[in-house]
Amino acid sequence: MPLPLLIFWVILYIIAAILLIVTCYVFFIGAPFVPTPQRVVDKMIAAADLRPGMKILDPGCGDGRMLISAVRKFPTIKGVGYELFFVAYILGWFRTRKYKKNIQLLFRNSDYADLRGIDRVFCYMLPKPLARNAAKFKKGLKKGAKIISYAFQIEGWKPEKIIQSEPKKNYGPIYVYKI
Ligand SMILES: C[S@@+](CC[C@H](N)C(=O)[O-])C[C@H]1O[C@@H](n2cnc3c(N)ncnc32)[C@H](O)[C@@H]1O
Repeated sequence: MPLPLLIFWVILYIIAAILLIVTCYVFFIGAPFVPTPQRVVDKMIAAADLRPGMKILDPGCGDGRMLISAVRKFPTIKGVGYELFFVAYILGWFRTRKYKKNIQLLFRNSDYADLRGIDRVFCYMLPKPLARNAAKFKKGLKKGAKIISYAFQIEGWKPEKIIQSEPKKNYGPIYVYKI
């Protein structure tokens, strides 16, 4: 095999291995890609008490639906989304392309997210990563910022508001926390 072709295949295998490792990390340690139903997205946005000009964060943004819905409702909102699962990131990149002025999607681990200036955080993650993130939110978010969590509570935190689940429609509760 010619050397350039060999190098090409080695690089391709390395990239595939990295993507596989990241995907496994997301599935087994973080939270799998399970999009929030649009009806719940709308309820979370209503519960967040968003106002024009706010800065919002989705630390596992999937296909970006939470950020897109918020920006559609308030066109002056700025949103940042982190995503580690490359299929979801590509979907998100595609879906948010019309909103590039407002939405920034990062193919990065949200464990290192920049929390400065963030007014609202939208979470849909399993209790363990949620607890890990909550500890950082407590330190890094400004006073008055809110965390809107779908389906899972932050252990040991008292929610400001709970929007009850709709078991018949298979929707879980929404918890709102204030820093
Ligand atoms: C349950 S899904 C929610 C997706 C989206 N927020 C929504 O509401 O439709 C959680 C997402 O978080 C991503 N994720 C998990 N841990 C992450 C991390 N540390 N950094 C970035 N993304 C992460 C997963 O890949 C997955 O797409």
